[in-house]
Amino acid sequence: MTTSRDRGRNRPSATSEDDTFTTLLEYIERELSFATSHYNDSYLDRRITSRMRRTRLEDYDAYLERLQSDPEEQAALLDSMSINVTGFFRNPDVWDGIRDLLRTLSETNDRIHVWSAACADGREPYSLAMVAHDDPEIDESSVHVIATDISADALETARNGYYQGSRTIDLGEQLEYLREYERYVEPQEDGGYLVSDAIKRNVTFDRHDLINDDAKSGFDLVICRNLFIYIDNEYKKPILETIADSLRDDGYLVIGKAETIPPMLESSFTVLDGRLRIYQRG
Ligand SMILES: C[S@@+](CC[C@H](N)C(=O)[O-])C[C@H]1O[C@@H](n2cnc3c(N)ncnc32)[C@H](O)[C@@H]1O
Repeated sequence: MTTSRDRGRNRPSATSEDDTFTTLLEYIERELSFATSHYNDSYLDRRITSRMRRTRLEDYDAYLERLQSDPEEQAALLDSMSINVTGFFRNPDVWDGIRDLLRTLSETNDRIHVWSAACADGREPYSLAMVAHDDPEIDESSVHVIATDISADALETARNGYYQGSRTIDLGEQLEYLREYERYVEPQEDGGYLVSDAIKRNVTFDRHDLINDDAKSGFDLVICRNLFIYIDNEYKKPILETIADSLRDDGYLVIGKAETIPPMLESSFTVLDGRLRIYQRG
């Protein structure tokens, strides 16, 4: 797909709008240290346009000028660009599949090593630990989850393990996936929930950039969901290679329900459940 950035770079007759969009992205990458080149342009354009509407600025040039002179707008843009939408038990049908994988692994493994890659604010890895505690067929003491993200802020929230619902997000409803969620979170006076220490003990958080950092090794299961939808095509391959190298030979991979494995890497994985996007290495 030709993006406005590609057009701006490659065509001498590119419109000035393409050029200013490119200049704006380059500024954000260089001065604000957000790797715009890793993300697809339509996603970046939506985030920037939404900030332009909020600041009542009509074109990329005017918005770039504002960014250059206004640190608060820089922070607001970075905040809006960090793609951190997540939830407990996002796509519950996929969680049925994940629970089955943990059950299968529990039958044979004394220790189950799981990597929640691009874990955002921690609700995905905590969901993993909660399923392990909640399901009688899974030995929760064997489940070790490493949860990583590129965002230091998201990881800070994750380590705190405190979450608040909103008008549109009912955390209690999300947690009802479990048989007895009250055992794993402590309701707070302000309506929020604090993840219990027993659940936190199963999860270790660490910063990791899936594009630039090294692969890990020996994982039985990697969950990397809802990152590829934002990532520029060029970077999907290195990320999936990192994941494949991090899995043991017949380890499992779960990606987001709206995501696909690029054709050149399909041979690295066997499809176990195409609808739920569950794969096995090899
Ligand atoms: C939409 S969230 C997905 C959260 C969770 N996996 C889920 O499905 O609910 C995407 C996460 O990817 C993280 N991310 C973006 N680029 C990354 C990279 N290069 N390496 C690791 N994490 C990255 C973002 O910080 C964000 O927390």
